Amino acid sequence: AEEEQSFLGKYLPYYLSGAGYTVFLAFIGVLFGAVFGGILALMKLAKNKFLKIIATVYVEYVRGTPLLVQIFIVYFGTGVLGFDMSKLTAGCIALALNSAAYVAEIIRAGINAVNKGQVEAARSLGMSQAQAMRFIILPQAVKNILPALGNEFVTVIKESSVVSVIGVSELIFQTGVVQGASFKPFIPYVIVSLIYFVLTFTISRLLGVAERRMAND
Ligand code: ARG
Repeated sequence: AEEEQSFLGKYLPYYLSGAGYTVFLAFIGVLFGAVFGGILALMKLAKNKFLKIIATVYVEYVRGTPLLVQIFIVYFGTGVLGFDMSKLTAGCIALALNSAAYVAEIIRAGINAVNKGQVEAARSLGMSQAQAMRFIILPQAVKNILPALGNEFVTVIKESSVVSVIGVSELIFQTGVVQGASFKPFIPYVIVSLIYFVLTFTISRLLGVAERRMAND
């Protein structure tokens, strides 16, 4: 135990810095993913066939290809298109584009889960389709959507580890640095697994509390 302590004492700054990047990547990824995912969900629910097809193709394609490949496409693609983008920016964009496809399904399902009779009741009270959406459907859908968005954040905390392949200095990248500096292959990964677990477990618990509060009113 003594040896592990000095090990941590020595390398904790690497892990803390990595954890900062990991949380940042996940936060930005899900934030922008939620905005874009919301647009995709509305497109999928729209009457317009063209919008529907575009959104469906996007969602299916993103969910049907590896995140690893998407990260490389964003990172090298922006280089080919002639504008240089930092690794961190490319990583955030790739995670946001990926998360959007998953969030689109979360939001679409959240909206569809609201009882159809609610729209009919709102419409029979003289509300327009848009008013029914704004005042009746969405407030109820939010209760389905927010907890699932929290889970998406937990997922992306873990998935952001893949961004290490383009050299963003998040937790996994820093673990490699610690491996190299300490000449120890095993312990650095045990430590990083614990850090990921503390992050995801803490967030899940906080989400559980928030969810129970929402359910009570
Ligand atoms: N592991 C999946 C892949 O490599 C990515 C899953 C991303 N999930 C998410 N909810 N954003 O394709």
